[in-house]
Amino acid sequence: MTDPVPELADRAAACADRLLDADRVLLASHIDADGLTSAAIAAQALERAAIPFETVFEKQLDQDAIADIAATDYDTVLFTDFGSGQLEIIGEHEDAGAFTPVIADHHQPADRDTEFHLNPLLFGIDGASELSGAGASYVLARALADTADRSAELCSDGGMVTASGATDVRADNRDLAALAVVGAVGDMQASGGELHGANEKIVAEGVEAGVLETGKDLALYGKQTRPLPKLLEYATDVHIPGISNDENGALRFLDGLDLELKRDGEWRRWSGLTNDEKQTVASALVKRAVSTGVPATKIDQLVSTAYVLPEEPVGTELRDASEFSTLLNATARYERADVGLGVCLGDRDGALERARKLLRNHRRNLSEGIDLVTREGVTHEDHLQWFHAGDEIRETIVGIVAGMAMGNEGISRSKPILAFAEKSAEGDAAENGQEVKVSSRGTHTLVRQGLDLSTVMGEASRAVGGDGGGHNVAAGATVPKGKEDAFIERADEIVGEQLS
Ligand code: C5P
Ligand code: C5P
Ligand code: C5P
Ligand code: ZN
Repeated sequence: MTDPVPELADRAAACADRLLDADRVLLASHIDADGLTSAAIAAQALERAAIPFETVFEKQLDQDAIADIAATDYDTVLFTDFGSGQLEIIGEHEDAGAFTPVIADHHQPADRDTEFHLNPLLFGIDGASELSGAGASYVLARALADTADRSAELCSDGGMVTASGATDVRADNRDLAALAVVGAVGDMQASGGELHGANEKIVAEGVEAGVLETGKDLALYGKQTRPLPKLLEYATDVHIPGISNDENGALRFLDGLDLELKRDGEWRRWSGLTNDEKQTVASALVKRAVSTGVPATKIDQLVSTAYVLPEEPVGTELRDASEFSTLLNATARYERADVGLGVCLGDRDGALERARKLLRNHRRNLSEGIDLVTREGVTHEDHLQWFHAGDEIRETIVGIVAGMAMGNEGISRSKPILAFAEKSAEGDAAENGQEVKVSSRGTHTLVRQGLDLSTVMGEASRAVGGDGGGHNVAAGATVPKGKEDAFIERADEIVGEQLS
């Protein structure tokens, strides 16, 4: 069998062997789109390898969360989409004999390693843009099938071959590539319109397995589910005067085309148009952009690579990797990871309908959050900008809001943005109200200039008695309440040093 990411093959095989040795496994994952797809990939791989397991989700893998995990009587814990940054704490529990950790992650590792640790950053692959947590989990899933297959061959001599002679894409877990791509897209790893590096190899496996299709398409969000006027009106990454943020303008633009874009009185969606129809709309859109003075570099951004899941029904969120990932964020970031996991596992127990309800709520929260930040504005320091949302924006989505607000009036794209929000009232009662969550977002351009928000959030938070980490382009931290100003001052200094 070929390895999807050869650099990781040895570690992946070691992790797979360790899992196959376990009587049962506790699977712990993160509560966002990448964490959910990571868990769904791992869950299916464990199921297929006949390893019993139970799944738990954590908003953050802090000291308390790890202690709770150690207190269970599982001897083997599989961490996905987190764990690397917490290796020092995990290691203490490992040393104490509480459990053996197996980790499939892509976050910046702490100053300690462990035997069963699969992370692209250990092998020169960028964890922020080339492989996600779901990607690392996929590499592990492929190794699990391979190892399980080899052990089976030792007992019988039958390989897993279908009637046609081709290896079954479920038997070798290649069908899980679609979820890996949803995770990568959910972590915003598609830069310049497409996925790169190890992610691209996973895409290629998914295409070969028939669970993914890629192609150049309009770069707008909502091609599957949004009625055409809304698709155009809400698309603001490339601002087209008279269409973006302009309900009547978008309607007039579509009415002016010589196409039947309504059916039974309802607007059609992009995904239902024929190729000719798509071509007509896209050309008219580009023509309008040119005539209203949108710069050529921006116009290029109107087209990007779309990642389509051809086995999912046309017109559903599940068919488009980007819409799928937003649907997942709408569940897990609202304490309903069970719903998101159900969706990933093939709509178990009517999960999709429940997820759609949560999505309506998530969309409203994002749009209200972005409006709030844009209206109230941000505070500009020398090297960064920030706002404090208090309890107006949920801490689990304040980072998404900050990222989406960048570029709006008064909110620069040439400085990173930091966003504070109150920690929600749950968990350790003594800590309630004592700590503040802070999220940060940059751009790939800033990262090329030296920005590393993982270091900024880690160092600045620890300087004031908190902790944090993440990726160069997006990171987060927890800081004690009242220390926000000192934190900002330190963060501003570090960003200044990085960008000098
Ligand atoms: O925990 P995790 O790695 O999954 O979170 C990554 C977060 O960083 C996501 O919320 C993603 O949207 C964000 N991100 C971003 N811009 C990027 C890369 C990641 O906002 N260019
Ligand atoms: O919510 P999530 O982090 O998955 O959003 C990823 C990206 O999808 C956002 O940065 C935004 O560009 C786009 N999006 C959107 N409209 C939504 C949700 C997401 O345009 N309602
Ligand atoms: O929560 P948010 O979406 O802002 O997280 C951005 C990135 O920072 C994620 O990859 C998350 O795992 C990481 N993070 C972290 N430590 C924290 C908070 C966030 O490593 N305390
Ligand atoms: Zn991730």
